[in-house]
Amino acid sequence: MIKLVRGFKDILPTETALWQYVEATVRELLEDFGFAELRIPILEKTELFARSIGAGTDIVEKEMYTFTDRKGDSLTLRPEATASVVRAYIEHKFYAKDPVCKLYTIGPMFRRERPQKGRYRQFYQINAEVFGLHDPRADAELILLLMKFMNRLDLSGIVLHINSLGCHKCRPHFKDDLKTFLANRSEQLCSDCLRRRDENPLRIFDCKVPTCKETMTDAPSILDRLCSKCRSHFNTVQDVLKMSHIPYETNHRLVRGLDYYTRTTFEVLAGALGAQDAVAGGGRYDGLVKALGGPDQPGVGFAIGVDRLIELLAGQVQGLEKRSHLFIAALGVRAQDRAFQWVQDFRMQRFRTEMDLEDRSLKSQMRRADKLEASYVLIVGDRELDEGAAVLRNMTTKEQERVPLRGLVGFVVSRIKPTTTGRNNEDRR
Ligand code: HAM
Repeated sequence: MIKLVRGFKDILPTETALWQYVEATVRELLEDFGFAELRIPILEKTELFARSIGAGTDIVEKEMYTFTDRKGDSLTLRPEATASVVRAYIEHKFYAKDPVCKLYTIGPMFRRERPQKGRYRQFYQINAEVFGLHDPRADAELILLLMKFMNRLDLSGIVLHINSLGCHKCRPHFKDDLKTFLANRSEQLCSDCLRRRDENPLRIFDCKVPTCKETMTDAPSILDRLCSKCRSHFNTVQDVLKMSHIPYETNHRLVRGLDYYTRTTFEVLAGALGAQDAVAGGGRYDGLVKALGGPDQPGVGFAIGVDRLIELLAGQVQGLEKRSHLFIAALGVRAQDRAFQWVQDFRMQRFRTEMDLEDRSLKSQMRRADKLEASYVLIVGDRELDEGAAVLRNMTTKEQERVPLRGLVGFVVSRIKPTTTGRNNEDRR
């Protein structure tokens, strides 16, 4: 038997209702916040990711699925969406019409990380990006949108961490501070971090090696090094969050695993997820559009890890809206012919309807209805056809009633109301 590739997974029919619910909820919210959907390809030129995410990051150094195609081009399965969204923003000159542009995209990403709970080699992201706004309220509004989404899903036990990584003016000073701090701590650093110390010392905050982690507990804070513009930008982000009653913690170690960030960064963490606790992350990337050959337009965005979100929800969701499901048990050729037509008519009325296409006994048809978890069964045989009325059985209450064959579909539809067992969509906070 040929099995799944390690780190990849199937999302089974028993799980997809929750995925659809999450996607429908986020689409609705994103559209209310003025976002439009962009669909981007899964494959891009490798250079796009190397130049945006950064050559010294784990993603680009170790985790990309890269191959050379027949023409010799180096192509990569996208490890994230921001780079592609920026490419599309530039390529289609969205900025010419209006530099302010809000785009979202939903789909799979690929990173060749070591698979474990909450970490897959193909995983899904909901991605939101805002271009053309320097104002810190754009950052705060995105965070607000993210938290509103979490709230709509009724997620509990999550915390929001925020930080500022400064700009091209103040960050170099901080990097120097960090290099000085690390200068005589070589023995405590792993070989990767020794290399990072010279090239990209901020990355060391992300290292999972215990000695590196311990070393960094005493490291200087970037928040003490922000220039006045970055400080004021970060203060406003926080003011708006406070004004919007969004609880948060500042975390000066939050450098994120991608190099394009400037100023605000943020993550939403859920303790219940264990080691892979980041359910969403994002930040500002003011130099990226220009670095990829576009105009000097700022950007800010986030991505939600859908697989992790679903894991959290699976433990918290009680039930989703369930559509009524009708089964028609037809006995005899005449009844089956009529039933076949009714099945199509019920489906046109948006009722999930099934019948048995093999000529089986009533008992085995009822067993099948049970297996399919039908809410109602419509029973019809030669006798019912002659009498002009079928039997409608409520599978929950076991009550039965006779329903006229004339105008049957309309009559039954008015009898069967969709059963809502699920959550409501109201914001709770
Ligand atoms: P990221 O932090 O690399 O950011 O990924 C965002 C989220 O994707 C994570 O918080 C996590 O929930 C999920 N995720 C990442 N890797 C995996 C994995 N191997 N398995 C399962 N879930 C995973 C970005 O990708 C940025 N592009 C976010 C962004 C958008 N920044 C600005 N705009």
